[in-house]
Amino acid sequence: MNHKTCAVIMETIQGEGGIYPADPGFIKGVRQLCDANDMLLILDEIQCGLGRSGKMFAWQHYGVKPDVMTVAKALGNGLPVGAFLARGKAATAMTPGDHGTTYGGNPLVTAGAKAVLDIFEKRRITEHVNQVGIISARSLRSWLPDLTWSAPAAGWG
Ligand SMILES: Cc1ncc(COP(=O)(O)O)c(C=O)c1O
Repeated sequence: MNHKTCAVIMETIQGEGGIYPADPGFIKGVRQLCDANDMLLILDEIQCGLGRSGKMFAWQHYGVKPDVMTVAKALGNGLPVGAFLARGKAATAMTPGDHGTTYGGNPLVTAGAKAVLDIFEKRRITEHVNQVGIISARSLRSWLPDLTWSAPAAGWG
C-alpha cells in the first residue's frame, strides 16, 4: 500500500494454488488498514462464494464486510454470469450507464442467476454444504492423517 493505492482486492479463501483460508487476524488487519487509509476492500468471492465454504459468502466467517465483492461461477451454475456488489460510498460511485457492456445484465443469465439464488434458499444449500463438508473432512482426515489442513469453517475439523 502507498499513497496511490485506492483499493485492495483479495480472496479470503485462496482458490488457486491450493485452497488456503486466510488467517482471521490478517483479514481483520487488511480491513482496518483500508478503513484507516480510505481504501476500498474488494473481496473476490468468485471461487469461495455462493455457499462453498458453508456460508453464503466466505467473508462471513471472518467478521468483516467488504466494500465491494465479486461473484461468478456458482452464481449461474453453468450459465456464464458474473456480478459485483457494492455498499456504502462504493455503491454511490457508479450510476446506471457507467458500467455498460454488450451482454451485461441480460435477461437470460440474470433469470438463471435468480433461479440459482431461489434454489439456495428453498433447498437450504448452505446447510447441506455444512453437513457434507463435515462428513468429507472426517473421511479425508481418516484416509490422509498427514494431510496439512486448514478448515474453512468452524466444525469442519
Ligand atoms: C478467484 C477468481 N477470481 C476471478 C476469476 C475471474 O473470473 P471471471 O472469469 O468470471 O472474470 C476467477 C476465474 O477463474 C477466479 O477463480
